[in-house]
Amino acid sequence: MKTSKSAESPGSSRVAKILLVEDERDVREGIKLQLEEEGHEVTETESGSEALALAKSAAFDIVLTDVMLPDTNGIELVQRMSRLSSCPVTVVMTGFGSVEMAVNAIKAGAFDFLSKPFSVDVLSATMASALRVKSLQDENTELKKTVKGQFSLGKFVSSSQVMKDVFRLIDCVADTDSTVLILGESGTGKELIAQTIHSNSTRHQGHLIPVNCGAIPEALLESELFGHEKGAFTGAVASRVGRFELASGGTIFLDEIGDLSPPLQVKLLRVLQERTFERVGGTRTYKSDARVIAATNQDLESLVAAKQFREDLFYRLNVVPVLVPPLRQRVEDIPLLLQHFMNMFNDRRKAELTGVSDHAMALLCEYPWPGNVRELGNIVERIAILKRRGLIEPEDLPEKIRCLPSDHLPTMPAAIPIGGLDLSRAVEEFENRLILEALERTNWVKSKAARLLQINRTTLIEKLKKKSLAEVVAQRATPPEDLVDV
Ligand SMILES: Nc1ncnc2c1ncn2[C@@H]1O[C@H](COP(=O)(O)OP(=O)(O)OP(=O)(O)O)[C@@H](O)[C@H]1O
Ligand SMILES: [Mg+2]
Repeated sequence: MKTSKSAESPGSSRVAKILLVEDERDVREGIKLQLEEEGHEVTETESGSEALALAKSAAFDIVLTDVMLPDTNGIELVQRMSRLSSCPVTVVMTGFGSVEMAVNAIKAGAFDFLSKPFSVDVLSATMASALRVKSLQDENTELKKTVKGQFSLGKFVSSSQVMKDVFRLIDCVADTDSTVLILGESGTGKELIAQTIHSNSTRHQGHLIPVNCGAIPEALLESELFGHEKGAFTGAVASRVGRFELASGGTIFLDEIGDLSPPLQVKLLRVLQERTFERVGGTRTYKSDARVIAATNQDLESLVAAKQFREDLFYRLNVVPVLVPPLRQRVEDIPLLLQHFMNMFNDRRKAELTGVSDHAMALLCEYPWPGNVRELGNIVERIAILKRRGLIEPEDLPEKIRCLPSDHLPTMPAAIPIGGLDLSRAVEEFENRLILEALERTNWVKSKAARLLQINRTTLIEKLKKKSLAEVVAQRATPPEDLVDV
């Protein structure tokens, strides 16, 4: 095998990567010379097996192959090439008069054929059309990928960088069978993420079975999860299939996993380790074929430290952790989410909300959103019902949002200790805390943080340069990669 690349000829629109498969040396060299003169990059080989190996390791645009090869025939090569993920466009070269071969090659998936001997012009024109087809194919593949992306994350509204990273992780993990643990505050979209993972997995034709481990009474939860046999307990008049069985071939979504009782933690661990379980009151062992996605708004690691959650189960669940940031750390999502919920509730509630005034938007961006996206959605729904039409103004917002910025002051530090305190240090520490909170809430965008603190940006930057604050920033558990300089 030899590869060479000649200089791109003037006027050639795109250089093609061509794999030339021809066992007759003179013919091969003549064609290669011609293709290189046109600026194409040519890799040559004389055997079908080597051609296939080459096409598996590098992506070619066009495979130009002789129909008669020493180790295989060109038709078979065409078929095998068409199954490769790079899917090169194939053109076969047939001996004079072998029309039947040409027809077979086309049937096998070749784009075109060249009857030997062929002229330079015919070769050139055929390569140009093959390359056009390849470009169209590539464009189509890209489009399909984009459409898939839009569809897959379609219910999700976000424009923030932090959520983009989450989306990327979701996209990577969806097609695997890995156990996923979704962590995030209440209302951040954990269930929506579980649904997205399921609908993008190969199991999407199976069911997504949710189980809220915190909402089902402990006495019933075991039977809910694993099913029960007739007579297993008072009231068990018939045997019943559990949710693990229902989720077979699909996904089981174990929500509020932090609330699982210790005995059930042991049973879940067994399902994750051995993929087996028994129904309550039964002896038969069932095999579980459900993908597990779990979620919690609790700090599982603290529960492990406090011995309330089994460490071994935590590690079994935490195979792929997905951390969903709270809304206050992705303020740039707020305008988009407001629009999304206005569209949704205009439709559902027959309202005609048209937008959000600047002042209302500023208030909404400053509010810390303890209930996250769910709370935002509820507020828009309430406005759609009460106000019905027009622009959302500050007076339409709940008091907690309207009144927060100016007349609310955060709790001051504790009373003066018996031994007294260093006033300037205490004041500085308090100031640092507020600055950090403002930066966190605005996703480290300094201009926004300054606005929130009602100081100008340069004052904030000066304060940040102060040694003590720099230390506080450095001591943070998850320091920002860099402060966004806008
Ligand atoms: N990025 C988003 N785009 C659109 N809708 C969202 C987004 N995030 C959350 N939502 C919506 O907000 C609501 C709350 O989301 P979800 O139920 O998934 O949160 P959660 O994290 O599971 O909350 P909890 O911990 O309380 O169970 C849902 O109606 C969901 O559709
Ligand atoms: Mg939830």
